[in-house]
Amino acid sequence: MSKVLVIYAHPETAKGSSTHELYKHFINSCVQKNPQDEIIMHNVSEYMPLPLNKIAISIYNKNLAKSTLNADEIRFNDARQKWINEFVNADKYVFVNPMYNLFIPAEMKSYIDIVMQAHATFHYDETGKTVGDLHNKKIIHLQSSGGIYHNGDTNEHVEDLGDKYLRMMLNLMGIKDYQGIFAEGMDHDPMHAVEILDQAYAKAEMAGKEF
Ligand SMILES: Cc1cc2nc3c(=O)[nH]c(=O)nc-3n(C[C@H](O)[C@H](O)[C@H](O)COP(=O)(O)O)c2cc1C
Repeated sequence: MSKVLVIYAHPETAKGSSTHELYKHFINSCVQKNPQDEIIMHNVSEYMPLPLNKIAISIYNKNLAKSTLNADEIRFNDARQKWINEFVNADKYVFVNPMYNLFIPAEMKSYIDIVMQAHATFHYDETGKTVGDLHNKKIIHLQSSGGIYHNGDTNEHVEDLGDKYLRMMLNLMGIKDYQGIFAEGMDHDPMHAVEILDQAYAKAEMAGKEF
């Protein structure tokens, strides 16, 4: 049995969302193939309680100085530790989002800020290089976007920085098995939106069977 952790970032309810449809096609086939897997899902657009705020930065600085945390900082640290433990204990990760302004939604970035934690998900070697601490895990990134970034017809001045960022951060934590599935171009070519989505949903279903 595997633990599948879904980090979902969409501020709306499921209805009418191509992001949610892409996810549903993926997860339904994944569950059908591996019915014993445990699925844990967080919609971080609905609740993302731990920003990189004054307390978080104070903790960071105090840890560097090896000084004692105050009560608020201990509470914050404990809450963050629960998110980190859940992340570390998962076997597979599903990141699901619409593209917003050429990036992942801010709440998903906040989630990465929480779990990108030295001595928990990565450490530095003696030369100062980052070494990932998470091994034998895999991730799939499911993303919906109005424009096209992956399947040809790309504007040379823009790129999908969100997908690149996720891939890089998870790779730094040691997760090398990374796949992206993109429902893209529905706003760019609305006449073919249904076909574009159907193709992406079919890819998501296929990926779900192999995840
Ligand atoms: C605030 C906002 C920013 C967006 N930025 C982009 C963008 O940079 N590139 C793009 O291709 N689509 C962009 N879109 C379009 C969405 O990514 C696209 O419509 C996506 O399919 C939405 O998924 P949904 O149907 O699940 O809401 C943006 C949409 C919103 C609401």
